[in-house]
Order: sequence, then C-alpha cells, then structure tokens
Amino acid sequence: MRTETEGVARERRAVWFEDGRVWMIDQRLLPFELAFVSFGGHAEVAEAIRDMVVRGAPSIGAAAAYAMCLAALNGEDIRKAAGLVKSARPTAYDLFYAVDWMVGRIGAGDDPVAAADGYAQSIIDRCLAIGRHGGPLIKDGAKVMTHCNAGALATVDVGTALAPIRQAHSAGKRVFVYVSETRPRLQGMQLTAWELKQEGIDCAIIVDGASGHYMREGVDLVIVGADRIAANGDFANKIGTFEKAVLAKELGVPFYVAAPVSTFDFDTGEGGDITIEDRGEEEVTRLGGRPVAPEGVRALNPSFDVTPARYVTGFITERGVLRPDEIRKVAE
Ligand code: MRU
Repeated sequence: MRTETEGVARERRAVWFEDGRVWMIDQRLLPFELAFVSFGGHAEVAEAIRDMVVRGAPSIGAAAAYAMCLAALNGEDIRKAAGLVKSARPTAYDLFYAVDWMVGRIGAGDDPVAAADGYAQSIIDRCLAIGRHGGPLIKDGAKVMTHCNAGALATVDVGTALAPIRQAHSAGKRVFVYVSETRPRLQGMQLTAWELKQEGIDCAIIVDGASGHYMREGVDLVIVGADRIAANGDFANKIGTFEKAVLAKELGVPFYVAAPVSTFDFDTGEGGDITIEDRGEEEVTRLGGRPVAPEGVRALNPSFDVTPARYVTGFITERGVLRPDEIRKVAE
C-alpha cells in the first residue's frame, strides 16, 4: 500500500485507477487529513471496503468494479474474486451490482480498465442527472436536512443526496443544510460538513437527536441517500434514517431518497429481506480510539435501518423524481 498526502480535495475522485493500481481517498482520516492510498490486488481492495477506507454505496460499487479489474489483470479466478469482493459488506446493493456487471464485461472480453472506468463514470453521470432532477425541489432560501454522507465521497464524485443541493447552490439559490452527525462513525459531521464547507454551502452540524426539533422549527425537505432499495420501495440507509422519515411524515416535511439504478435491488421484495450490517460494539463504546462507555457494558450497532416506502415522498433518480410505486422505471 502506498500513501500520499495533499492539501486539495475534489480535484480527486473518491476512487480511481492509475498506474495499474486502485487509488482512493482514505475517508477514515477526514476531515483532518486528506490522504490517498493505493492497492494492487482485489483482496486488498475488498479489505479497504470492509475497513471503510472507501464507503458510501456507489463508491463501494466503483471500488468493487476496480477490484474486479485488478483480479482480471492479475489473472485471478474471476468467480472466486467476485465472491471475495462481494463478502466485504452486506448491505450496499451497489457492491453486488458492480461485481456482477464487471463479471459480465470481463466474460465478454472487454478491457478491464476501460470497463471499470466506464462503470465509475456512469455513476458520476447518473449523479449529475440526479442533481438536475432534484435541484428544482430546492427553492431559494430552502432549509434542507440530510443524514450520513451521500456526497462526492460516497459516489466517486458529485453525490446523490448532495447533488440536488449542489445544483441549487450553483444555480444561485440560497440553501442551508442541517447535517446530522451520524453516530457512531460521524459521516455527517466529518464528511458531509467537510464537502459542503469546501463549496461554501451554508450548513450546520446537529446531533442526530436534534432532527425532530429542527424539523418542527422549519425544515423544507429532507434528502438522504440509500444503500439498497427493495422492489416495493422500502429502503436501507444509515442508522437513524428511519427516525427522520417518521418525524418528517408527522411534521409534514417532504422526505426524498436520492439514488442511482445501481442501488435498486428488484430481486429483494421488501425491506425486511435486506441484510443489515452489524459493525460491532467498539464503534459505539470507543471514540477516536478512547473508551467512552463503562467497561463491560454491551452495545448494539446496526449500521443501517430500513424505512418503509410509505414514508418516502419521492425517489430522486437519474430517470426523474419517482413515487415508490413508479421505481421500476429506473430499470427500464
Ligand atoms: O456505512 P457507510 O458510510 O458506507 O454508509 C453510507 C450511507 O448510509 C449512505 O447514506 C448511502 O451509502 C448512500 S451514499 C450515496
């Protein structure tokens, strides 16, 4: 593994291929250090996905596509490599979608680097379309709430939930973003706030438990990303999303989910069938490596929760803003 540190963000994608290696921003170090790491084998990339060097469903998908590219270049058994890469994390559907897509391309004799680069670029293009479709939902002066990080870091570039916000901001609208911190790994506070600050988009970090308080004071809409969307529109996203959706419905705040086709799993009928990752007690009981809980007390740490489709106002996709009963259109 090679490491390189620089001071400029967003000139780099979250993950890319260069000099025969897969490169990525080490997202575990942000916002304090912008460091790049690279890997020469698919098993190392799978490990980086598991350790959350790279995270966010579409970025995990792109990293997996590049892992499969390395497997092909290194003459590995493609079926075995696919199984290993898919085992890195269980919830984000993009991981499975990307690996299957690459297995198809490699099997068809395509150049592995061109195929993986094409996959990553397709994610960016889809996010740009999500921004174009979602931007008009944000009026001048709007207050938007988001959760976790569904920005450029999570999607190679641009973002899903952050794409409409970026689009509205660049169209000259005044936008304010409530960024919920996202315990236990703090992706909202550390990654989303970092991205928004760089672009001069007005925002404030709130603790996760303050969401209802601010929604009652006047949030115009909530936009979150997704890790897997089932055929009936139920979806998994970062733990804490379900609570926001219920609060939004109670308080009459529109609740949107932004995601590309690679996150829609039409083979999973409903949210109850989605596997929810458990990342272990220490993420909860330790903070920055230090214990923050009484020793020996158990902690429970589901990384995601499932929100039923009835709480979703619309899915912002590359095909437009769709009601839960219209989502099959993204697969067409
Ligand atoms: O555990 P993470 O950081 O990979 O979880 C990320 C999320 O839950 C995101 O909201 C989701 O992947 C959508 S990213 C566009």
